[in-house]
Amino acid sequence: MAKTILVSGGAGFIGSHVTVELTQAGYNVVIADNFSNCDRTNYNGVCTILGKKLPLVEMDFCDMEAVRSLWKEYKPDAVIHFAAFKAVGESVEDPLKYYRNNLESFLNILQITREKSCNVLFSSSATVYGEPEKSPVTEQSPRQSATSPYGNTKQMCEDFLRDCVKAYEGVRGIALRYFNPIGAHPSALIGELPRGVPNNLVPYITQTAIGKRECLSIFGNDYPTEDGTCLRDYIDIVDLARAHVCAVARMLDGKMKEPYEIFNVGTGRPVSVLELVKAFEKVNGLKLNYRFAPRRSGDVVAIWADPARANEELGWKATRTVEQTLAAAWAWEKKLSE
Ligand code: UD1
Repeated sequence: MAKTILVSGGAGFIGSHVTVELTQAGYNVVIADNFSNCDRTNYNGVCTILGKKLPLVEMDFCDMEAVRSLWKEYKPDAVIHFAAFKAVGESVEDPLKYYRNNLESFLNILQITREKSCNVLFSSSATVYGEPEKSPVTEQSPRQSATSPYGNTKQMCEDFLRDCVKAYEGVRGIALRYFNPIGAHPSALIGELPRGVPNNLVPYITQTAIGKRECLSIFGNDYPTEDGTCLRDYIDIVDLARAHVCAVARMLDGKMKEPYEIFNVGTGRPVSVLELVKAFEKVNGLKLNYRFAPRRSGDVVAIWADPARANEELGWKATRTVEQTLAAAWAWEKKLSE
């Protein structure tokens, strides 16, 4: 019988892509979302791609009663937890909002997984490494103290999961540390839908290219890198989603070597902001209006993954080139303005 995976935040950018890949791999997926930071566009897109309507529960994971009735109804074999606030700047302005929402919802999930002996996949972030002494970073690279309440919630949730797995029989957990997820599904039916002015680079680029924004500011061109702009590891969203399928299979097929495991999900390839902009221009045959601006506070200079552990243990590897990913991101932006 097909296993059931609960995807919290399944209507969001990452959750919707993961839902598609899991369903195509043969899992039953239940989406739970409170639509606090997205509309139904991606949910509808997921159903169109898959040619069927997936179960959708509109709920908040901070509501323990709702969490209990969700488990009662669907009895998931594993939960992938995406439902969280994710704006770094906002978390600095309103830390309590982030601590209450991101920690309480995850504590509720851990509570129910303890009661029901369930598997948990937590969506963590490369932000836990802070400004690393050197890149590529491995899972053993030291975590640095978080520079934002958002980053702090990622570290704390990782620790909650580690401690619960250790203490409670039957609970297993995997944390995936994402580098910079970008792009969109090749169908252009699901993608990133930032509300208001985008904080992240690629949505800002595509919105500038389409004319929604006047000019991209490149934050800092005096960093100690080859072209002076920051280096990141941009990971295609479909590649990233496939890593979740591998991790879920590892958990449910009893292949984990430890009851709590961590994997970097990145390409291992550093790309500068300027290189990314130029690649976007080239692959899509257009000129982008950009200028150099002062550094953005809180940005790390350079970070990229050593993905060897995920490659070897999960049998997963990033396959898409930055050009393919940027073409998909542009196709999605164009589709949005049709
Ligand atoms: C940030 C968060 C990360 C989070 C991710 C997704 C930190 C340190 N980073 O990553 O945890 O998971 O967002 O929400 O907490 N840039 C510009 N102009 C822009 C926008 C960005 O030049 O308009 C540059 C930035 O300075 C940076 C690069 O592009 O060098 C990537 O920025 P961004 O997409 O915001 O991701 P991160 O800051 O790396």
